[in-house]
Amino acid sequence: MLLGIEASPRKNGNSHILLQNILLGAGETGMDCREAHLRDYRYEPCAGCERCRKDKTCTRFQDGMTLLYPLVEQARALVLVSPVHNYNVTAWMKAFLDRLYCFYDFQDTRPRAWSSRLANQNRKAVIAAIAEQADPKDLGITLDAMRLPLEALGYEILAELPVLRLFDRGHIAQHPDILEHAQSLGRQLAAATAE
Ligand SMILES: Cc1cc2nc3c(=O)[nH]c(=O)nc-3n(C[C@H](O)[C@H](O)[C@H](O)COP(=O)(O)O)c2cc1C
Repeated sequence: MLLGIEASPRKNGNSHILLQNILLGAGETGMDCREAHLRDYRYEPCAGCERCRKDKTCTRFQDGMTLLYPLVEQARALVLVSPVHNYNVTAWMKAFLDRLYCFYDFQDTRPRAWSSRLANQNRKAVIAAIAEQADPKDLGITLDAMRLPLEALGYEILAELPVLRLFDRGHIAQHPDILEHAQSLGRQLAAATAE
């Protein structure tokens, strides 16, 4: 199963359409694809309570993440798409990534040694960032902010897609070259994670 997640506040925005095209490509291969638009979910940022150390899931909150955890566990293929907000992922994406903290096992050393319960399972991801500006510097740390946490959790990043010069809602639909590339990444991700 492939789980696609996008983190724009705008329905039918550029991130939404980009995600749909990645899933379109993956779906052509017969891959079971699910999508989640984080703006449709209500969830808290991680409270740092550390209850998940013992409970192995987040028991502090029963919220939108409670619905997403089983999908994250089930999906060997993950797609994350975020618009650039202030040189970074959106607050929805940041909170989503922080709430994956419950997938770690920690030891009692200082600093704590850790491992991920999602690691060593052939999990692969594609990440994409969409920016208004033309200079790649204006992407800031958006791709880093998705790549580093996913790698720590045990995902191999199959591809990173920076998209520049897009501001208006849905304007990406006028760029068939980008959409075709997105579909091709979807096909590649599906092929890489097919069992
Ligand atoms: C709060 C906010 C902050 C933004 N910060 C940046 C930025 O740092 N760099 C940039 O290139 N674009 C920035 N943008 C523009 C968006 O990334 C751009 O409009 C993008 O196409 C939005 O994608 P979406 O339609 O998926 O929401 C920002 C937009 C908003 C609303």
